[in-house]
Amino acid sequence: MTPVNPLAAGAAGRFVTVEGIDGAGKSSHIAALADWARARGVEVVLAREPGGTPLAEKLRGLFLHEPMDALTEALLVFAARRDHLRSVIEPALARGALVLCDRFTDSTFAYQGAGRGFDGAVLAQLEGWVQQGRQPDLTLWFDVDPAIAAQRRAAARDADRLEREDEAFFARVRGGYASRAQAAPARFARIDSSQPLDAVRADAIDALASRGWYRV
Ligand code: TMP
Repeated sequence: MTPVNPLAAGAAGRFVTVEGIDGAGKSSHIAALADWARARGVEVVLAREPGGTPLAEKLRGLFLHEPMDALTEALLVFAARRDHLRSVIEPALARGALVLCDRFTDSTFAYQGAGRGFDGAVLAQLEGWVQQGRQPDLTLWFDVDPAIAAQRRAAARDADRLEREDEAFFARVRGGYASRAQAAPARFARIDSSQPLDAVRADAIDALASRGWYRV
């Protein structure tokens, strides 16, 4: 197969987001996805939300640890997202890079929308202002039963404000992801994250490879 070099002039960057409830295990697979793409000569930019710039990382600290209502949560994550998009994501995509972002706006619809019950129409309006039409090319949704995720979270120390939410909250968040996936099936790839680690990793890499953007 002919190698596709996204660094070639005019080649489009790719924006891949990674999603799931806390404890789904998504973050541990991002490095494997990056290694896979780098082995094919692709420039990979690793990012996370909220965060990814000095300003957005400060907002992340506030978001994760200060008590606040759902509207304030939404405004903070979208403020962080705006800075991240302008400073990191858009320039990287313009260079032809693969941007692998740990969480993006599906998190906002799932956590603030479905989890907190905040108005999805307001979130959609903020999304429009902040993203100016930018959407991920692919979203890897690491899906797992909230009971399994709760066990995994219990094994980790120092839970933040969101991670201390109960199982019912995470069941709603999971439902939020399911609705987002149903509304955009071409963009979403659901990965069964209850499988052994190796199988989850293989499925995630397959989902990226099967897009045909890079040689396999
Ligand atoms: P992380 O633990 O995966 O880094 O994510 C930080 C937390 O922030 C996680 O509990 C999900 C939450 N979050 C939201 O509630 N809304 C958002 O828009 C984003 C990006 C994250």
